[in-house]
This record gives sequence, C-alpha cells and structure tokens, in this order.
Amino acid sequence: MDLYTELLEGTIQHLQDLKRRGARYVPVSKETLQELSSGAAVKAPRAVAAVQSPAPASSRAPLLVVQKAESAILPGTVQPSSKVEAMAELRERALVCQKCANLAASRKNVVFGVGNIDAELMFVGEAPGADEDIQGEPFVGRAGQLLTKIIQTMALSREQVYIANILKCRPDTPGQSYGNRAPNPDEMERCLPYLHAQIDLIKPKVIVALGATAVEGLFGKVPGSGITKMRGKWREYRGTPVMPTYHPSYLLRPNPSNVKREAWEDMLQVMERLSMPVTDKQKSYFLSKTPA
Ligand code: URA
Repeated sequence: MDLYTELLEGTIQHLQDLKRRGARYVPVSKETLQELSSGAAVKAPRAVAAVQSPAPASSRAPLLVVQKAESAILPGTVQPSSKVEAMAELRERALVCQKCANLAASRKNVVFGVGNIDAELMFVGEAPGADEDIQGEPFVGRAGQLLTKIIQTMALSREQVYIANILKCRPDTPGQSYGNRAPNPDEMERCLPYLHAQIDLIKPKVIVALGATAVEGLFGKVPGSGITKMRGKWREYRGTPVMPTYHPSYLLRPNPSNVKREAWEDMLQVMERLSMPVTDKQKSYFLSKTPA
C-alpha cells in the first residue's frame, strides 16, 4: 500500500471513529481556514490536492485531517509536542479499529505498542498472545519476559526502547478457548499501516524484527528464506537498518544452544550499530552458558 492510500485509509478511519464517538465537527483554526480560503492549501502535496480538487466546502474536513496525519507521519516534519499528539491520535485510532471484524469481536484489548517514542531501538514482534490481550501491552507473557531479559542484557530497559507488533489484536482461534495462530496475510495488510506510522513517527535508528512474521510484515514474503537464513543479516526498511532474529518464543523451545548464542550475536550487532559500549562479559555471553 502506498503512502497516499495509507494516509487516506487512516483519514477515513479517523473520521469514522470521530463520527462514531459523536463528533459532528472537526475543529479548525482561524489561520488554517484563512490559508485554505486564500488557496495556500493548493501548495499541499499531490495526494492532498487529489482529495481537494472536486471537493465542495462541506468536504474540507478530510483534507485538514489528511494534512495533519501526513505532517505527523512523514519523517522530519513534526515538532516534538506534535509527535506525542500524533502518536496518541494513532493509538486512539487503533484502539477503536474495526478493520478485522473477527478480531475486533474477539479481542479484550488492542495492543498498540509500548515504550519510548524517541527510542533509537525498536522491536517488532508478531501479534499479541493471551497475556498481552489481557494486559493490553506487548510482550508481557513468557516470550515477553525473555525479550525483557534480552533488552536488559543489552544494558537497556523496556522504557528506553519501543516494542510493537505487526498485528495489534490477538489472532482469534474460533472454537478454541486457548492456543495461538499466526496472523493471516489479510489481517497483516489491514493492520500494517499502524506499524508503518509508528515507525515513521519514532524514526528508530535500528529495528529488530523478531521472527519470520515480523520480517514478512516489514518486507513481504521472501520465498525460500526462513528466519534461520535471514537472521543476523542487515536489511533496510525505508532507510532504517533492520536486524532479523529469532522470535523469543522460539528461543524458549528446546533448541540447540547455538540458537540462543546466534540470537545474542544478532543483538551484539545491533549494539555495535547503535555505538553502544559492549563489555567483555556481554561479548562472551551464552558462549558457555544458556541465556534464560
Ligand atoms: N509474541 C509476539 O510476537 N508479540 C507479543 O506481544 C507477544 C508474543
């Protein structure tokens, strides 16, 4: 999906949410109205002009929201205070999202993301599990505890990084009261604009893609390359370096010990890329013992 379609979708969704919540007007400043009537908005990007050209006065509100969303999402155009606002707005939109009717009906919480919106390091996982669905926070179950340990072993805290998932709702398992399933391609496509917008707002220096689904969400399906082949090798997502590595839940399974060491080597590469100091102890971690 291109940026324009993403913005348009987000705008429509946002206006529908506002309407559902009883809003009948979109507040617009006097200055913006003046600029609009003086034709200043025509200088807006192609995408906005396309919305604007045949539009009667009554449909100006979407145009304003498009501009707001765009300035919030495009890199390098936001002031710090509006970044906070833009992220809060994005979160609000996600919290009432109805794009996947089945997931909207089955979820207890939308799991938007957590952490520092100015983080240099962002972790992207697959989708919330049962614990995350209950608590509304990503990576709080068993796999999450291991991820937290990994983050701490990097001499960071959860509060310093940002953690989000490809899918913001727990994949439903109809007819089963337990169990997990991977997000399907339609769910991923519908949900990805939220992650893209999060990344565009945070502008991390490095993204860690946890597992094959996270890699697929960011880059699409790469035929014939499982996570074992892709891990440890830098990729680039819209100019941001991405380190694919194993998902923590895979590390919890009884795997050969080299899998844990490999995951840690991926994190050492991340630390190096972020110019973080690496101690001898960190370098030799998991060489002689297992992580968790
Ligand atoms: N697994 C994920 O990929 N994400 C979570 O938030 C929890 C488990």
